[in-house]
Amino acid sequence: MSFRIQPAAPARPNRCQLFGPASNTKLPPKMAASAADVINLDLEDSVAPDDKDTARKLAIEAIGDVDWGTKTLSVRINGLDTPWWYRDVVDLLEQASDRLDQIMIPKVGCAGDIYAVDALVTAVERAKGRTKPIKFEVIIESAAGIAHVEEIAAASPRMEAMSLGAADFAASMGMATTGIGGTQENYYMIREGQKHWSDPWHWAQAAIVAACRTHGVLPVDGPFGDFSDDEGYRAQALRSATLGMVGKWAIHPKQVALANEVFTPSAEAVTEAREILAAMEEAKAKGEGATVYKGRLVDIASIKQAEVIVRQSEMIAAG
Ligand code: COA
Ligand code: MG
Repeated sequence: MSFRIQPAAPARPNRCQLFGPASNTKLPPKMAASAADVINLDLEDSVAPDDKDTARKLAIEAIGDVDWGTKTLSVRINGLDTPWWYRDVVDLLEQASDRLDQIMIPKVGCAGDIYAVDALVTAVERAKGRTKPIKFEVIIESAAGIAHVEEIAAASPRMEAMSLGAADFAASMGMATTGIGGTQENYYMIREGQKHWSDPWHWAQAAIVAACRTHGVLPVDGPFGDFSDDEGYRAQALRSATLGMVGKWAIHPKQVALANEVFTPSAEAVTEAREILAAMEEAKAKGEGATVYKGRLVDIASIKQAEVIVRQSEMIAAG
């Protein structure tokens, strides 16, 4: 191991991020009543250009008026290639109550994008005497974003979470896909005449997880567009959890329970993890660094794997 210790990611539940356009006044109370850990009021791509100013005002009102309980509250601002983003930042930081926890910056391409938003946020926070620093989350959804993923994860102490945005990512990469995430019909291998589908999002997800874990940021899987396909959502979420992601977006309320189910360690997984820790304690007492649990090798690395599951479960129970 490098002598540099891997920093811990923020210890808060982030199993599901529920999105809704800030222009739709019916949604905030429903979102607040949901079981999602994180709420994202959207000013970006679910809001039409003519509605941007109204949506911004409604988001600021909803932040102050709705009882958000213990949820992490985030607003997705417009991208840095638009004329709207600076007004999003200035109005939110000048006018929103300090219930606002973080802003989500979409389509980031390099650390400089974060630096620009950080400079603006810092200036407004100082001018307004805001005492609770706004945190950042970003979406990796372009070729530049994935090419510079590590410098983005390291770009600011405000960074809390990073999501993969499959649809914009696919478009930017020139991928021959449609749909938002999930299985892609043409991404298969042939063996003995049979098609075996593979996962075209795998490498981008793994790159995001590595960048996030290096810099103490939460890696999150983004949207799954077909909200009539529960099995497809569950399969995508299980793959993301297996790779180290902590949660997934919901673009419809019915996806919240699916995400919570996948990203909450099961009772069986927690029991097994605790048994492995106990077995290793016993081994340690005998001066051994490895032992056998249910017929398989467990060693000091297994302690760390088991601790990931136990920590996650305790953190969710506490949240
Ligand atoms: N958050 C909370 N509640 C929501 C919701 C959301 N994002 N989307 C829909 N609902 C509510 C509806 O208001 C409705 O409530 P009701 O039963 O009290 O009338 C219920 O859930 C069922 O909704 P349904 O009729 O199935 O969907 P819809 O046609 O109203 O909306 C979408 C479908 C996709 C337009 C809507 O879910 C949506 O706007 N999703 C978010 C899109 C988004 O934010 N995209 C950006 C990130 S990729
Ligand atoms: Mg996008």
